[in-house]
Amino acid sequence: MWGKMPSILILNGPNLNLLGTRQPDVYGAVTLVDIEKMCRSHAKALGLGVDFEQTNSEGSLVDLIHQAKGKHAGIALNAGAYTHTSVALMDAISSVEIPTVEVHLSNIHAREAFRKTSYISAVAIGQICGFGAQSYTLAIDALARHTGAQG
Ligand code: DQA
Repeated sequence: MWGKMPSILILNGPNLNLLGTRQPDVYGAVTLVDIEKMCRSHAKALGLGVDFEQTNSEGSLVDLIHQAKGKHAGIALNAGAYTHTSVALMDAISSVEIPTVEVHLSNIHAREAFRKTSYISAVAIGQICGFGAQSYTLAIDALARHTGAQG
């Protein structure tokens, strides 16, 4: 189904395009371009291809999840604030049945109470949060194991 090299979708939601300048005390100085580069080299070493996307629109995130069906073996999703609000994203993940790892740079459990609620967690294989940019590479490791790309 996946051709020669399985691939994963790394999907980023609202405001993550501003990483580097956005609340650096919370999210660090790393930019989304830096994270993309880290993810590409990390995934390549594990034998995984990567599509890396960011959009500020909830509907576009839903569309990108739909389009991953039959194309990607797994999804690493940082849904940003939609994590805490979006039944539509939760339903999209359930609908495509693609193993999804929930990712956050910050430890959402150590912040405001509303960030402890995640609609993504209910349908994700797991959640990785609190490790800054490294949350993404940890998610790739988890997906590599889960998809069998790495034993
Ligand atoms: C975030 C955490 C969310 O609560 C927040 O709305 C974000 C970023 C993170 O990566 O830590 O936009 O998903």
